[in-house]
Amino acid sequence: MTNLSRLSIDNTNLTSTGIGKGGVSDDDVIALSPKLDSLRNRIQKWIDSRQPTILNLPFTNNLEEIKEKGQDIAHNFKRTVVFGIGGSSLGGEMLVRTLGDSTPKNTVSFYDNVDPSTMVELETVDWHETLLLVISKSGNTAETLSQFLTILPVMEHDLGFSKAKEHILFITENKEGALYQLSKELKIEVIEHPPVGGRFSVLSVVGLLPAYVGGVDIEGVMEGARSMVQRCATKNILDNPAFYNGAVQYLHAEQNRTISVVMPYADNLRFVVNWFRQLWAESLGKIDKNGVHKGLTPTEAHGVTDQHSQLQLLLEGPDDKLVTFITDPGFRFRGRRIPMQFKDIPAIAPLAGHTIGELFLAELKATRTTLSRRGRPNRTLALLERDAYALGELIILLEMETIVVAELMGVDPFDQPAVEESKVLTREYLSDISSVSDLI
Ligand code: PA5
Repeated sequence: MTNLSRLSIDNTNLTSTGIGKGGVSDDDVIALSPKLDSLRNRIQKWIDSRQPTILNLPFTNNLEEIKEKGQDIAHNFKRTVVFGIGGSSLGGEMLVRTLGDSTPKNTVSFYDNVDPSTMVELETVDWHETLLLVISKSGNTAETLSQFLTILPVMEHDLGFSKAKEHILFITENKEGALYQLSKELKIEVIEHPPVGGRFSVLSVVGLLPAYVGGVDIEGVMEGARSMVQRCATKNILDNPAFYNGAVQYLHAEQNRTISVVMPYADNLRFVVNWFRQLWAESLGKIDKNGVHKGLTPTEAHGVTDQHSQLQLLLEGPDDKLVTFITDPGFRFRGRRIPMQFKDIPAIAPLAGHTIGELFLAELKATRTTLSRRGRPNRTLALLERDAYALGELIILLEMETIVVAELMGVDPFDQPAVEESKVLTREYLSDISSVSDLI
């Protein structure tokens, strides 16, 4: 197993070396280490387990089966429409939008909302050349079921009753769930969802199948993921990227820096933030065993665009944030060069002769420096564009950091007890639709 990393992690500006007073020291991190002993033991068990767990997914997945199914789909269809929500769509969409082929043999599009104005797009899909992939671990999610049940008649109309079934595939786990029952009644093929929570399922068939169909190098992703799992099992906290980064973020949160701003300087990495927001919010926002409300708020800013929107707040607003930059060092050599022709105009002089990519990275560096000078913690994660291996590393790093922070905060990262109430209420309100109309 190689430990060679393609993901660069620069934590200097989380520490006292980078930001002075208010930065975290190695001694602070080492002092926290014993609190993570129990998690260390569990991690080893997860890795060694024969059952799929989030940490052994990169080792136990049968990639050949996923690839075979993906090839089959790509061969038979030109387009794949994915229905799913939360953990059933964000991971796959991140992989496809970050690493997917720009001209794939099969275009993969994700529908994770029930906005009727968006759903109307599906009326014009050519179902003759399209596969519908419906993903729901529970098989009972109202949004996903409603999407499927409303589009099924359209497919049956276009393709005929029996042919329509050949254009539908389910991924689900719960044998008692509605999706499973529908598969039996309608004779629709089912792929088993592994027994891992939705937001930790990206490296299973849930994320990998749509990714493969969309042209992603899933072997590269898994190779990077495996290497990061090995690093996350390292005992010394200073050498373990996830334990170190998790501990440091926890220590900053203890100083009231409870807002985690993720700021990609790379448009195609925005989908990483969408995925991460769910991971961080749904895993950490909980009531602990003493009844205390815990959680760190994930939020998003885009470089450079939001320098003209949120940067002022990050620099001079409340000192309650920690910024994670994600970028691509390869930008330096990309983009057109700004011509020298107008270099005598003062505002153009510093730009002339530089590539757009150089400008992008210079702006990132300026943002980092101005934050650090004000003692505002920030870190930079860097990976090359379309580097599947590095994205695999990043996925495991962010998942493991989340688990480490949850352990230190004393909450269970794998459940989401509170969202159930809203699901129950939705069903109740639907039973008396006039009450919904009253509200709006
Ligand atoms: O991470 C989670 O567990 C949730 O976001 C679920 O993925 C989401 O609620 C969808 O659930 P399901 O896959 O059961 O349809």
